[in-house]
Formats: sequence, structure tokens, C-alpha cells
Amino acid sequence: MADTILVTGGAGYIGSHTVLELLEAGYKLVALDNYSHSYPKSLEVVKELTNQAFPVYEGDVRDKDLLQQIFSQHPVTGVIHFAGFKAVAESTQQPLAYYDNNLVGLLCLLEVMEEQGCKNLIFSSSATVYGQPTHLPLGEDAPLSVTNPYGRTKLIGENILRDLYAQDPTWNLVLLRYFNPIGAHPSGRLGEDPQGVPNNLVPYMTQVASGLRDHIRVFGNDYDTPDGTGVRDYIHVVDLSRGHVAAMKKWAPGSGLSIYNLGTGQGYSVLEMIQALSRAVGRDLPYKIYPRRPGDIASCYADPRKAQTELGWSAQLDLEAMCRHAWSWQQQHPQGFQD
Ligand code: NAD
Ligand code: UD1
Repeated sequence: MADTILVTGGAGYIGSHTVLELLEAGYKLVALDNYSHSYPKSLEVVKELTNQAFPVYEGDVRDKDLLQQIFSQHPVTGVIHFAGFKAVAESTQQPLAYYDNNLVGLLCLLEVMEEQGCKNLIFSSSATVYGQPTHLPLGEDAPLSVTNPYGRTKLIGENILRDLYAQDPTWNLVLLRYFNPIGAHPSGRLGEDPQGVPNNLVPYMTQVASGLRDHIRVFGNDYDTPDGTGVRDYIHVVDLSRGHVAAMKKWAPGSGLSIYNLGTGQGYSVLEMIQALSRAVGRDLPYKIYPRRPGDIASCYADPRKAQTELGWSAQLDLEAMCRHAWSWQQQHPQGFQD
């Protein structure tokens, strides 16, 4: 039997795009999701787009019996771990739920992997672990600091993996720090499906473009940036997903623990993002300036060279493609996967 990859949180935004890229690259996989923040539909669409079948388990990554069952039914040799909660503001309201889901989830997974002798893992970390940058662009060796419970779960998760590796260097652990994933599959059939009012800029903007919301709220225009609005490193979700396929190279025996930024290296301001999406939509999108959002930083963008040198991966899709695909998804699915 060919090796199989377990993808936790496989029905989510990044998970579903990564499942698609894994299938297109010829891998066998099994997906696990409890659908707390996604719908079964996303993986049905992946099956249609790739014309390939794969097993999907509905359940919780904290359910060790279920994990053991998956390992007993499939020859899992590596795990890509996306399952978790990711909303910063919500994490300050529900810190215990975030620690429980993100950290107990990771621990249960690692315990079962160890028991089963499967020691290859890719972990979804975030540029949020860099906190307030001391210099830009951010290299992987930049100082780490976090300011909210969500960020802390990612930093603690990274530290759990560092401690595990120190105790047993036969693990191959890849920590991927994502910058700002946006966009959708070029077909417009797979994309981000935020629940309620979107926290992130791009889903909010596409909802304004489709008439679901009145105007874009620009959080602050007095930052120390060229136009005063926040600058971020937006990366196409398809590029980000391909970064996971490239990172599996680091599951080769003896690879150890590796950390990579997944970003483009290019920062864009909020006003530049509004202009870019306006071009994709074909008309100017309305916006108003609001006060700064608490906890936001002025600028954040990656030094992506390590991933390029060691994984042979770099982002290929530009801002125009990110906006065009995000808009195509929004047009086809104004209510997300429920449409
Ligand atoms: P998402 O919410 O779309 O996907 C997460 C998936 O995990 C969902 O399908 C959800 O139902 C599932 N899930 C949550 N808890 C689970 C559990 N206990 N058991 C099983 N399934 C569970 O989020 P995403 O944007 O695809 O993010 C994936 C990962 O990447 C997360 O760990 C997130 O913290 C991390 N990340 C995301 C971003 C981003 O901007 N999207 C940035 C940095 C890091
Ligand atoms: C946020 C999270 C980060 C997480 C990432 C991806 C915070 C403080 N940080 O990053 O931890 O990894 O999402 O999920 O929440 N903006 C507006 N109007 C909006 C929304 C955003 O002007 O309606 C601005 C923000 O001030 C920022 C930029 O747009 O300058 C990007 O914001 P967002 O998409 O929320 O991402 P981050 O804040 O970078």
C-alpha cells in the first residue's frame, strides 16, 4: 500500500486547497475534520475538481480513539496539522477554548503519532509569532513574541515541537509560518467561508463588492507606512498550499526540525488592496477611515528566501490573481458553501 498523509482540518480554507494540491501531486491522503468551522461540501468540491476519491473522517483531533482508528485503517506516514481555531479577537474572549482546541489537539495528535511510530509532521504556525517586528523583512530567526491567546497557542505549539525534537531527534518536524493567505481556487469553487462578520480584510472587501456590506472599514491611516495604512504580506492560498507539498521534502530521514516563512516578501497597504480588488471587480469600492484596530501593527512582511533555497518553493501568483480568484469565489458563493 502506498504511503498516506493524514490532513487534520482538511475541510477548512487552507486544508481544502492543500488536499487538492496533494492529490494533484499524486499523493494518497485521508482527511479529518469536525466541521466546527467548515462544511463537508469543500472536500466534495475537491473530489469533483480532481476527479479523485479519498476517505474523510468526521471527528475531533482530540479524540485519540478516532486517531488510532485512522492509523489502524490507513498506512499514515506523515501528518499535516491544520485543525484549530484562528480568530484573534475571539481568542481573547474564549482563551480556554483556544488552549484546549489548539494545544490539547496538538498533544493528542503527537501522542498517537508517537505510539504509531509516525514521526513526520507539518504544523500550521503563523507570522503572528513575530509580534511587533523589530526589523523587516522578517527572517525565521527574528525574535518571537505574542500578544493574544491565539498567538500564544501557536508559539506554545512551536515550543512543544522544539521540546519533542530535543528529546527524540528522529522526528521530522516542519513549522510553517504563514503570512496573510487570501484568494481562492482559480475555478472559484473553493474558497474562504468566514462565519459572521469577516475579521480579515479580503473577505470583508469581497462582501462589500457583492453588496452584502456597505463599505470597507480601513482601520487606521496614521501608521508609519507610505500611505498611513497597514502593510501586510498577502499570499495566494494556492501558493501557500503548494508550500506544504514542497515542505514534505523535509520528511526525509534525518531532516529534523525546520522552520519556514510562507510569504511573498512583498507588502501591500490596505489602500493598495482596495485598489487591486476594485480593478478585479471593475469599479471603485467604497471605503471609510476608522480608528486603528487594537493589537494591529503597522507593517509585516516575510523574508521568503529560506523556503526558496531549501524547499525550492516560492510564491508564483501575483496580487491581481489573488483578487481575481477571491472575487470569482465570492460571486459564485455569496453565502459561502451554503450556496
Ligand atoms: P479554517 O478555520 O478554515 O480551518 C480549520 C479547520 O479545522 C476547519 O475546517 C475546522 O472545522 C477544523 N477544526 C477545528 N478544530 C478542530 C478539531 N478539534 N478537530 C478537527 N477539526 C477541527 O482555518 P484555516 O485558515 O484553513 O487555517 C488552518 C490553520 O492555519 C489553522 O491552524 C490556523 O491557525 C493556521 N493559520 C491560518 C492563517 C490564516 O490566515 N488563514 C494564518 C496563519 C495560520
Ligand atoms: C490577522 C491576525 C493574525 C492572523 C491573520 C490571519 C490580528 C491582529 N491578527 O492578521 O494573527 O494570523 O489575521 O488570520 O487579528 N484591516 C482593515 N479593515 C478590515 C480588516 C482589516 O483595514 O476590515 C486591515 C488591518 O488593520 C491590517 C490589514 O487590513 O492592516 C490586514 O488585516 P487582517 O486581514 O485582519 O490580517 P492581520 O491583521 O494581518
